[in-house]
Amino acid sequence: MSLRFHEIAEARNRILNPLTHDKMALLAEICGVSPGVRQLDLACGKGEMLCRWAADHGAEGVGVDISDVFLSAAHERAEELGVADRVRFERGDAGAYAVEPGAYDIVSCIGATWIGGGLAGTLDLMRPGLRDGGLLLVGEPYWISPPPAEACAALQVEAASFGTLPETLDRFEAAGVELIEMVLADQDSWDRYMAPQWWALSDWLRANPGDPEAAEVRAFLERSRRSHLAYGRRHLGWGVFVVRPC
Ligand SMILES: C[S@@+](CC[C@H](N)C(=O)[O-])C[C@H]1O[C@@H](n2cnc3c(N)ncnc32)[C@H](O)[C@@H]1O
Repeated sequence: MSLRFHEIAEARNRILNPLTHDKMALLAEICGVSPGVRQLDLACGKGEMLCRWAADHGAEGVGVDISDVFLSAAHERAEELGVADRVRFERGDAGAYAVEPGAYDIVSCIGATWIGGGLAGTLDLMRPGLRDGGLLLVGEPYWISPPPAEACAALQVEAASFGTLPETLDRFEAAGVELIEMVLADQDSWDRYMAPQWWALSDWLRANPGDPEAAEVRAFLERSRRSHLAYGRRHLGWGVFVVRPC
């Protein structure tokens, strides 16, 4: 799916994943985010986690993302929260980012493990940036229950792309990291991520009826709305998993 569709769809979202602000605050507490903590956030989106944790806990960090639209929102948010001197954003492919070795207390990739070709490859990208004793935060989907074929077709995902929670644990163990905590989305927080997208897409379609991609955007809206209601809420889980190298 094109990046442009996501930029249109997520116009009303600050957090581009199924965690709410409360869950993100809980994650900060769990991870002991505090003044001086340095974080690298790969595929940072609108930078809400970096900016919020800088504002609320005195953390500092770097965000990397490929979208100019999202990065411009990130810069605005940093100004708005008064943390522009503590967070920095870079445009680029996070999969090719030259990570400063051992420089970060937290390295995160929340909802974009395709940057490393999957979970294991993304952990390999993240690990070098971590100082001894640091934490890796990975946002990743999982299957709440094994999905029927029609759910995979509607959600446009291969069943094997994700595992159930115990299978996700197996994947972390196979990648040489230990799962030590997690904050999971729930149906309400999924709705907070998905439902604002319907409104944003609907608004955009009303404002841009003659756009050459309008029909595709409409199809994207209809598919994502129906698949979330019919299958996503029942079968698709999501969480931020806190792991560290074994
Ligand atoms: C689901 S969003 C998550 C954003 C952010 N981590 C958050 O949770 O709010 C996925 C993000 O990945 C970014 N992205 C996609 N491919 C990328 C790449 N190769 N390098 C950097 N960012 C990428 C998108 O622009 C988008 O911001």
